[in-house]
Order: sequence, then C-alpha cells, then structure tokens
Amino acid sequence: MAGPLIAPSILSADFAKLGEEVRAIDEAGADWVHIDVMDGHFVPNLTIGPAVVKALRPHTSKPFDVHLMISPVDPFLDAFAEAGADVITVHPEAGPHLHRTIQRIKSLGKKAGVSLNPATPAKALDYVLEEVDLVLVMSVNPGFGGQKFISSQLRKIEAIAKRIAKENLDVLIEVDGGIDPETAPQAVNAGANVLVAGSATFRGGQGSYAANIRALRGEG
Ligand code: DX5
Ligand code: ZN
Repeated sequence: MAGPLIAPSILSADFAKLGEEVRAIDEAGADWVHIDVMDGHFVPNLTIGPAVVKALRPHTSKPFDVHLMISPVDPFLDAFAEAGADVITVHPEAGPHLHRTIQRIKSLGKKAGVSLNPATPAKALDYVLEEVDLVLVMSVNPGFGGQKFISSQLRKIEAIAKRIAKENLDVLIEVDGGIDPETAPQAVNAGANVLVAGSATFRGGQGSYAANIRALRGEG
C-alpha cells in the first residue's frame, strides 16, 4: 500500500512570509497544503480568510486542503472555492444541514470533507459517508497548533476505516493534531491515509522541512 499523504498545516508557518513558506513545503515534498480557517467563534482563534488563500494560490500547484472551523460555514463555501481550495472540509456542528453543505461543496467542483472533533462520534457520518471524499479525524481539539495527540481517536479512525472498507467506499481518512514521527505510524496503522502536521513540519527536529516530512513518512 502507498504511504500516507503529508499535508503540512501552514498554521505553524511564518505568517510574515506565507508565500515563501508554501513554496518551501512544496519543494520539501509536501503532498497537500493544509489551511486552517478559524473564526474566533466556532473555535477560540482567528486565522485566515479567502483573500489569503487566493494570494497563496499562485505559489504552488499542490492541492489546497482547506479546513473550515467557522460557523455558520455555508455563506463562505463559494468564496473559498473561488479562492482556489481543492478540498473543503466542514464540521457537522458548523451548520444546520450537513448533507446540503456537502452537496454545495461538490456542486462547486470541489472535494468535500467532514471533520469530527474528538468528542464527536463516528456515528455523525451516518447518511453522509457515501457522499464525501474525505473524513478528517481531529486528534486534538481544534483551535491551535502544537497540542498533544489524543490517542482515543485511533479507535475512531479504525472504526471509520472498517466501515469504508465494508461499504467499499472511496473515502480518504485524514488525521489532524499532534502528528509527529511517533504518532504518525500509529495513525497510519489505524487506517489514516493523509497526515496533517503543523509543528512537526515547520518546527520538527530533523533540520529541514524535507527531512521533517520524510520523518513523518517513516523514512529515516
Ligand atoms: C488545529 C488545526 C490543525 C493544527 C495542527 O485546530 O486543525 O491543523 O494546525 O497543528 P499540529 O500539527 O501542530 O498539532
Ligand atoms: Zn486543520
């Protein structure tokens, strides 16, 4: 089986030179660019909006994996799609009609993801799993980089992976929060295909972004 895709979260990048940082992780071997959008309401932090996503778009051709932690989310889907998102992921708690939100993302020609907070059960995927391209399992409470991996989420990844296999669906499992060279293989063994890594990419201990990314892939 192919190794995991690595999606560095630019939340841990130097915000004063985001364009350069995006180019640097592209050259360092990142598969996707994970962009954390926070509104100070759904989560206790404020980050970036569609104008910044649009400004970053010319700096790489790698997919933009846009993680929306905003509520209500529906009014902003079109803006992020137009700004250049490739994957748009939403939380079930961020709007009253999850199924409609997913349909809207797909009608904009984008891949649709659903993200589960640590306390949100896999059951929240009932009746939508077959509609989505990706499930994002949060292994920290959303809002900040640099938090500790919550290992109970491994059981959730396993349960979702089993369900995807049983129903023969084409859905990726992404894990987000506290991923480092130690937790990455645990998440992959549980069934994750995409690893988000902010601190471990931008502040990892291997000496370069490329080496930090290789360490996440389990390559020495
Ligand atoms: C948290 C964000 C994460 C965060 C991960 O709300 O969704 O993407 O940037 O940061 P690390 O990898 O440092 O835990
Ligand atoms: Zn994220």
